[in-house]
Amino acid sequence: MTPGASIAVVSQKGGVGKTTTAVNVAAAFARRGLKTLLIDVDPQGSVRYGAGLRPGHPIHGFADYLAGTRALREILLPTALPWLRVVLAGSVSEALDHSDYLVRFGETDLLARLVAEASDRCDVVVLDTPPGLGPVTRAALQAADRVLVPLQAEPLALQTTPQILRGVQDIVATHPRLVFDGILLTMFEAGNPACETTATYLRQKVPAHLLLDLVIPRSPALAEAFAAGQPAVVRAPADPAAQAYVNLAMRLAARFGR
Ligand SMILES: Nc1ncnc2c1ncn2[C@@H]1O[C@H](COP(=O)(O)OP(=O)(O)O)[C@@H](O)[C@H]1O
Ligand SMILES: [Mg+2]
Repeated sequence: MTPGASIAVVSQKGGVGKTTTAVNVAAAFARRGLKTLLIDVDPQGSVRYGAGLRPGHPIHGFADYLAGTRALREILLPTALPWLRVVLAGSVSEALDHSDYLVRFGETDLLARLVAEASDRCDVVVLDTPPGLGPVTRAALQAADRVLVPLQAEPLALQTTPQILRGVQDIVATHPRLVFDGILLTMFEAGNPACETTATYLRQKVPAHLLLDLVIPRSPALAEAFAAGQPAVVRAPADPAAQAYVNLAMRLAARFGR
């Protein structure tokens, strides 16, 4: 069997829907029967709240593996979906200071080794990353073979697009083997003039191959599902945003041949 794909969800900005995208696209892959591993390397560790982990699950994760205090088998956690397993950020998400974690990240290739090993056993590995292009995100880009960049459809996107594009170009230039899956517009509100203007502007300014034509609508179901501890594609599968994530997963899986 050819190795599975590995997709890093990356953005310079916080609050654009990276975690929501990583969790829902991973759950959508798993619901299609693809063996999926979701790895949270953001020291904020938000994945643990919304990935459908079993009640009473441990919170150790990648940071503890990195620190040598937990073995790999201890950090691979089952979820409510049989084909989805999760590696949480770990105890770093309870700590106020993340500097040890950041330093360790820069010093090892443990993430790349974990992703390579997981790709041999899984159809797809999804990586949720912290905002920005710091050492953790760069390690995730080094480890992954594809990258997806969520961008919130809001007027501020007009000002930040050149910066986002520079970031994307930087990623593509420094990781030539990465497949760029595209910029994904999130929190899109059809009929909202500011959103529509933003989307139109982006379609004019951003080369078509860098911008996915599928958009994720704004929907309260995403945050509600997260608050209830589950991916929206599991809790509210009929919701338009959940369906958009299912379609995204289908589109991506077709690209990497699963
Ligand atoms: N399509 C959407 N519609 C409505 N709210 C959303 C949508 N995507 C994300 N959110 C909400 O926006 C906030 C930030 O999303 P999150 O995925 O945590 O972003 P990031 O990981 O980039 O910081 C969360 O409260 C999340 O529930
Ligand atoms: Mg996040």
